[in-house]
Amino acid sequence: MKNKETYTLITGGSGGLGKALAEECAGRGMNLILVALPDKDLTLTSEYIKNKYKVKVWIYGVDLVQRGALEKIHAFCEHNGLTVNMLINNAGARGHTLFEKSSIDYNELRIHLNVRALVLLTRLFIPSMKKLDSAYILNVGSIASFFSIPFKSVYSASKAFVLSFSKALRGELKHTSIKVSILCPNAFNTDIHSDLSIKTHGIKGKIVLLTPEKIAKTGIKKLLKGKKIIIPGAANKFLLWAGKILPETIKQRILYHEFKKELAVERERKE
Ligand SMILES: NC(=O)c1ccc[n+]([C@@H]2O[C@H](COP(=O)([O-])OP(=O)(O)OC[C@H]3O[C@@H](n4cnc5c(N)ncnc54)[C@H](OP(=O)(O)O)[C@@H]3O)[C@@H](O)[C@H]2O)c1
Repeated sequence: MKNKETYTLITGGSGGLGKALAEECAGRGMNLILVALPDKDLTLTSEYIKNKYKVKVWIYGVDLVQRGALEKIHAFCEHNGLTVNMLINNAGARGHTLFEKSSIDYNELRIHLNVRALVLLTRLFIPSMKKLDSAYILNVGSIASFFSIPFKSVYSASKAFVLSFSKALRGELKHTSIKVSILCPNAFNTDIHSDLSIKTHGIKGKIVLLTPEKIAKTGIKKLLKGKKIIIPGAANKFLLWAGKILPETIKQRILYHEFKKELAVERERKE
């Protein structure tokens, strides 16, 4: 299927890393479909990108967690004749909490957005993407995909799922035109919560810190090169290496102390 107008679909494309990924793709001349919660950010981001990069931008405002939302996104693309050759599953809910005190809603959001939406949207788009000469799926994981983090138990487990799923799917699609990659950034600044989280880790937080723009640039460059697991930044690659060689009990002790600080700061902020 040659010379067809194609689109990159980005979930959570109105802000944070999703917006940076959208700009990186638009800068490379790719047309976009931005999916996010239906609010003014989505319209503002789309207008900004259209004016700056002169690419086509469609928007679809929806809560990805709502039943039927994923099927609606797929139907919207089919109905409007939009061929998706790149799917970026970026939307995800972060946060830290004491699991025993966490609400059903808190846990459900992380499972439904980080896991369910990513899996089902991928499932819906694969058949049409397979018909193209080349197509890409980029799942946004996290450095947390590699660690079991106290106080981020459901989040880190959801991101471990994304890692496992992406590797398995890549294997399954090996002989097709679709390349699957996972992008695993460390914390970056997008809002007051991420800013505070990073600050609690002091110098350690600063060393590993990258901007969403830098992460997006590395992510798209390596995705197009077909890299399986994309870890932006040398310090983060070192962190993963250290994580592999440290004994499990020591690793968990360090994680416990580091992430307990985030919990304390968040509690102070709320008081
Ligand atoms: N921030 C970090 O430090 C960090 C570190 C490692 C990995 N990550 C991962 O990177 C990805 C992006 O994170 P971020 O910090 O850039 O995210 P974010 O700023 O919290 O949210 C970005 C986007 O997701 C959309 N969104 C949130 N909930 C949604 C829902 N239920 N339905 C539809 N759209 C929804 C938001 O829409 P609205 O603008 O309309 O709210 C926004 O466009 C996530 O998968 C996250 O886990 C983040």
